[in-house]
Amino acid sequence: MPAATPYADDHTRRRPAVVSCALTPLAEVPVSNIIAINDIREPAEFGDRDFPSALVNVTNVCNLSCTHCFVFRADNPNKPKDKMDDATMLSQLEKLRDKHHIRSMLFMGGEPMIRKNLVMQAMPLFAHSSIVTNGTYGIPSVPGHLVTVSLDGPKELNDPIRGEGVFDKVKKAVFERDPDDGTTVMLQMTVTRQNAPGIEAFVEEVKDWPVTGVAFTFYVPCVDDQTGLGWDDLRDRDAVVDRVIAVKRKYPSRVKTNIGALELMKSDRCLEVTGQHGEHCGLRNGLLPLYMGEGGNFERTFCCYGNDVDCTKCGAYAVFNGAYHRRAGTVEEG
Ligand SMILES: C[S@@+](CC[C@H](N)C(=O)[O-])C[C@H]1O[C@@H](n2cnc3c(N)ncnc32)[C@H](O)[C@@H]1O
Ligand code: SF4
Ligand code: SF4
Repeated sequence: MPAATPYADDHTRRRPAVVSCALTPLAEVPVSNIIAINDIREPAEFGDRDFPSALVNVTNVCNLSCTHCFVFRADNPNKPKDKMDDATMLSQLEKLRDKHHIRSMLFMGGEPMIRKNLVMQAMPLFAHSSIVTNGTYGIPSVPGHLVTVSLDGPKELNDPIRGEGVFDKVKKAVFERDPDDGTTVMLQMTVTRQNAPGIEAFVEEVKDWPVTGVAFTFYVPCVDDQTGLGWDDLRDRDAVVDRVIAVKRKYPSRVKTNIGALELMKSDRCLEVTGQHGEHCGLRNGLLPLYMGEGGNFERTFCCYGNDVDCTKCGAYAVFNGAYHRRAGTVEEG
């Protein structure tokens, strides 16, 4: 459940206006020093522990309504009316960074590029920043950073999930970007029972696109999921995981997914990585999810996939890749 806010009545505090020094690079000036007179609310209380990484839903607004999307599930903070102004968000992210020693931040939504200016200002606050976007507003140029662009299969499978015309729009945006701008751009397909038949066709279609590579992750269901997008019997998912392993073997440098991580996702291994209720999950343990909650205040959800998730059927690649690297004593890329 989302963390409670201890000083719910005390969210609005006045800050003095401070003039920034024109000679100091913007990224080195604390955000709290360059915000003009404003009402800046303090961040909610999320305990005292460190989180090496975090995720922030900068907006609950999205221009698409994908069939599999966890963000808009009933149990999650996701109301488009709940908004936090730019100055407050920059200040709160900076404070949470310092308090929890957050080094990596993933900018998400909703669709984060709806607040592109804010995201561009917030990225330098963190040692490592990345974005996951639906790509319909263009691909942001952020040299040195990772941009993950979601596409859920070839056009005939992607568009029934993401919307009519979305595949072509995203393809155009990918081809229009400067491939030498220093941004790492990954395409990501979230595999469900709906689009699983298109894994191989998707790789064949995008293998020569001007991107760094293609990644796969699998559906994360909610408890008692009735969508039909997940696998009731995980042994059926194993066969699909094997097909991702096969495309990785066929195109080892284009498909960035790690076979060792995929092996851990198999039905005979996955519970040791996730636990029944996320008790073994490294992602839940190490990542602070900042959802946009009521009144435009951050709320922490059970994990980055929100509340009410079914960990026993979790297909989040990052969970299994993290476990793989912890076991191997190696370092995750990206
Ligand atoms: C929630 S979206 C937000 C960012 C952006 N709007 C986008 O679509 O990329 C982030 C990623 O989560 C994936 N996703 C959505 N619902 C999911 C689910 N139930 N299980 C696993 N991944 C999911 C999306 O396909 C997308 O790649
Ligand atoms: S574009 Fe992203 S946030 Fe919007 S509905 Fe699709 S998966 Fe969810
Ligand atoms: S749903 Fe997946 S990512 Fe979330 S806590 Fe469970 S195992 Fe971890």
